[in-house]
Amino acid sequence: MTLQEAIKARHSVRQYLDKPIEAEKIAQLQALIDESNRKAGLHMQLVTNEPKAFAEGMAKYGKFSGISNYIAMVCKKGDDTALGYYGEQVVLLAQSLGLNSCWVGLTFSKQPDSYEVRNDEHLVCLVPVGYGANQGIQHPQKKTIDDVAEGKPFPDWFVRGVEAALLAPTAVNQQLFRFILHDGNKVEAKKAFSLTNGLGYAPIDLGIAKCHFEIGAGKENFEWE
Ligand SMILES: Cc1cc2nc3c(=O)[nH]c(=O)nc-3n(C[C@H](O)[C@H](O)[C@H](O)COP(=O)(O)O)c2cc1C
Repeated sequence: MTLQEAIKARHSVRQYLDKPIEAEKIAQLQALIDESNRKAGLHMQLVTNEPKAFAEGMAKYGKFSGISNYIAMVCKKGDDTALGYYGEQVVLLAQSLGLNSCWVGLTFSKQPDSYEVRNDEHLVCLVPVGYGANQGIQHPQKKTIDDVAEGKPFPDWFVRGVEAALLAPTAVNQQLFRFILHDGNKVEAKKAFSLTNGLGYAPIDLGIAKCHFEIGAGKENFEWE
């Protein structure tokens, strides 16, 4: 499965089967996590065989089940957009390996012994990975290209980028991002205005959307501004 196909196939999955992830797939996820942490100064951590985060406290009232593997999405405060961008690459690799996932900001119980959060860092989300009991469903498309993009006329690669961004996971499906085309091949990505300020998740959502835009548009067609 290509990353473009993974973007279309990925939906948030909240119920998982009791089926272990093969060692080879764990190794591929770990390799991308290590490389991204090195490149961007992040602190993503793959946690395996840890069933408590989604089975205790608040989590047990949620709609999540069967989760014992997840990525702890940890970064320095202020690096959330980079965490979204690199974290979503791991999510799409998981999808292309036949695994499912879901970014989760709220309904889990913290497990400080299972991952490390240093003093200048924060835990932004946990992302369960594993074999889903279902494949999830396509989120409702609340927004169109014209709602989230500026700089017409739009070249085909730009349209493909925005379409991929509109398929990205965002907190409560808020899609608070904008893509602005300048000078034919420069793209500015920014948070859209919102009264609730994106519930604090707008920076990470923006990074996730940028990851999708870049895969949809093709890196060779544009430069970030
Ligand atoms: C930063 C972030 C935080 C999220 N937090 C939660 C959460 O706490 N609980 C939950 O059920 N889903 C959560 N989600 C999943 C979103 O609800 C989901 O991505 C959105 O509804 C779009 O659906 P899709 O991922 O199936 O395309 C979160 C997504 C993101 C990106």
